[in-house]
Parts: sequence; C-alpha cells; structure tokens
Amino acid sequence: EGARIVVIGSTMIDMISYMSRVPDAGETLIGDHFALGFGGKGANQAVMARRLGAHVWMVGCLGTDVFGDMTVDNFRAAGIDTTYVTRTPEASSGVAPIWVEAGGHNRIVCVPGANAYMTEHQAKTAVESIPRVDVVVGQFEVPQAVTAAGFQAAKARGAVTVLNPAPAAEISTELLAVTDWLVPNEVEFAFLAGAEAAEDVSSAPTDATVAEVAQRLGVRLVATLGEAGAAVFDASGAVVRITPPKTRVVDTTGAGDAFVGAFSYGLAAGLSPTAAARLGCACATSSVARPGTQSSFPVAGDLDEALAWAATAL
Ligand code: RIB
Ligand code: NA
Repeated sequence: EGARIVVIGSTMIDMISYMSRVPDAGETLIGDHFALGFGGKGANQAVMARRLGAHVWMVGCLGTDVFGDMTVDNFRAAGIDTTYVTRTPEASSGVAPIWVEAGGHNRIVCVPGANAYMTEHQAKTAVESIPRVDVVVGQFEVPQAVTAAGFQAAKARGAVTVLNPAPAAEISTELLAVTDWLVPNEVEFAFLAGAEAAEDVSSAPTDATVAEVAQRLGVRLVATLGEAGAAVFDASGAVVRITPPKTRVVDTTGAGDAFVGAFSYGLAAGLSPTAAARLGCACATSSVARPGTQSSFPVAGDLDEALAWAATAL
C-alpha cells in the first residue's frame, strides 16, 4: 500500500556562495557566506515525495568520492531506497556551484560528472524489478536515453510517467512517446512553445497556448508559473489555473523540484491532477520562504498545512 515512486535522475552537491555582486573575469572578490547543500533535480524531487509519505526509489549514479558517500547517507537518512544508485570511479559526483547575488539572483553551473554514467540498463532494470510502481519521474540532468528506457519499462507495466524538462532542451521523440505528464516551468514552457512565446517569458501563457503545446506534443501538461501558480491541461481538454498561497520570497532555488515531487506524490496517492497540482503549488510556496533547496522543503506542520490547502476549494 501507499504511493510508490521511482525517480530516475540527478544528484548534485550544491555549493552556494552568497555575495554582494558576482566577480568580473580576472577579478577576485570577498564573498559573504557559504553553504553546502544536497541538490540535483532528481534527488530534490525524491526528497519532496518522500516527505509526503511516498515509498521512493532513487535511480542515479555517484562518484566514489566523499560527496558520493555524503549523498548516500542523505538518502538513507531521508528513508529513500538506494538499491539502484550506482557509483563510478570514472568521474566525480555531480556538483552545482551556485552564486547568489544580493537581491537573490542565481547563477548555477551544473557539472554532471557521475550523473552522465547512468545506463539505460540500470533504469530499465530498476523499474522492472520494483514490486509495484505507481509513478516514474525524470528530468534533463541525466541522459535522455536513460530516462526513456525507464519510462518505457514504466509504460509496459502500467505506471504513470512524469517528465520535468529541466533545464530546457529539445525532447527526444522516443522520450516524448512514453511521457504522460510534462511539467515545465515558465522558461521551459516558453522554450517548448517556440521562439515567439520565448520572447515574452514575463507574462503567463494563455490557456490557448497551454492547450496548443500539450496537444501538439501529445501529453498532459502542468506549466509552473512562479508567483502566478500553475496551469493544468489534463485529458478533459480544459485548462485549470491554480493560484498559490501568498508568501515572503527568500530563495526560489528548488521550488520547481518541490512542485514536481509533490505533484508526483499526489498522482501516486490517487489525487486528481488538479488536487496534485495544488499540493505541488503549496509545497513550492512553502519552499521559497526558506534558503537552499532540500533544506527549504516543508516538514511536519508545514506539510500538514500544504496538504490541507491542497484539499480545499476543489
Ligand atoms: O532545481 C534546483 C537544482 O538544480 C539544484 O539543486 C542544483 O543542483 C541544480 O541541479
Ligand atoms: Na528555497
């Protein structure tokens, strides 16, 4: 019983430096503050789904370095199954040096390292071996062919697949063919919508654009729109808008992952897509009020509040 989720995806060590401004080429600056955190879109989504109570299996690849050891410990402490997490001596664990300027603007360099050593066989075997699977989740920080192999296995056994196409990239035809739900943010949505829409990411897409993109790609779709919440296009053919609860914004890093993890949990737990998206909005909103990525995701009382908010006004 319970919601059962497999996340095929990335793990990163987030190395976050806070500074008044970023240095120019050749310049050295004194920064204000440093924090090491657990990140990577896949790992973040796994942690969010687990906090809501799902059984979660992580499928990923780490280096044989100290960051890899720390990441395995972090998954175990969170109660995430690491049977399908492999280690390679060929590359370092994934890292994401992040610069945050006063005012909150981020610059992130993702160095995938070991994440690029995941294999199609690994993803397929994991999805086929786990006794019952409700939802399989993927992103774009590991090779698309790996995610496609896992999603193909998921469809073969009747599980639902959720793809977070982040960071923005062209989606391969073979991956799209086995994707049920696509969950882009506003930038990734504009990329999918094409050049014309990409010129204006600042205004939320219209219902017609959301429906057009979903129908053209042949998927159900949730566009996450930051403060504007989310737009859900499901099999009914109508677009439903979700307005998130108000909050004070401290750090938006990882908010999209909180959404995807919570949305996937919601689908796996049998909620309607709209209710699952409301839960995603509530968890993402909770996360922007605290610094960091996994460290900012809701726990205990905040989780109860998010679940309660998601269940209202349906
Ligand atoms: O979505 C946020 C994540 O993107 C960070 O944790 C960082 O690791 C990058 O992968
Ligand atoms: Na945050």
